[in-house]
Amino acid sequence: VNLYEVKQTVKLSGLDLDGRVLDIGGGGEGIIGRLLGHGTVSIDRWSKELIEAREAGSGALMIEMDATDMKFLDETFDACTSFFSLMYMEPEEQEKVFREAWRVLKHGGEFWVWDITIPERGAREEDVFVVWLDVRMHDTNVRAGYGAQWASRRQDISSFRNLAAAAGFEPVEASLDDQVIFLRLRKPPRAESPLA
Ligand SMILES: C[S@@+](CC[C@H](N)C(=O)[O-])C[C@H]1O[C@@H](n2cnc3c(N)ncnc32)[C@H](O)[C@@H]1O
Repeated sequence: VNLYEVKQTVKLSGLDLDGRVLDIGGGGEGIIGRLLGHGTVSIDRWSKELIEAREAGSGALMIEMDATDMKFLDETFDACTSFFSLMYMEPEEQEKVFREAWRVLKHGGEFWVWDITIPERGAREEDVFVVWLDVRMHDTNVRAGYGAQWASRRQDISSFRNLAAAAGFEPVEASLDDQVIFLRLRKPPRAESPLA
């Protein structure tokens, strides 16, 4: 294994999501579940990742579930998050996850996405892309290392914006802080019936 490493910082101090929140890929460090606690439902494909998150202090309800094929009813959640989880998925999986997030969100609900820009690997020898994150929360800082197979994968803010738009989301905010992507997306409120 040959690592390509980047160091980045994310500030999460202003995170205020109300209601029932779904955290996609919430295992590992379980950052969102640690911040938001009991109102959060964290899903992950691997239960061992969820156990790790629980041990790290996540107070979320944990369910082993594939985010490309969620078992929740339509319009279940007030908000949805994905914190450095999409970087672990192939583009086809990412596309399904945006559609599933849209489906399970209530109208007017927001999907907040944090992720990393992954450039084209090209002829580089490194085969694993690693981001070392310094996560700044209100009272603590957490260091996390997230690594994924690089292969032919690349992703950036515009690839995510395109997937989001194709799934039906409207952009509320999109920003790039060095290589960290942040998107705030909204499932449009239900259109009023012209007959009402
Ligand atoms: C390492 S975590 C990333 C950071 C995590 N959100 C945190 O706060 O530390 C990414 C997670 O996404 C999960 N994942 C990848 N593909 C998935 C899928 N299709 N459905 C659900 N979880 C998935 C992985 O199992 C992994 O635990």
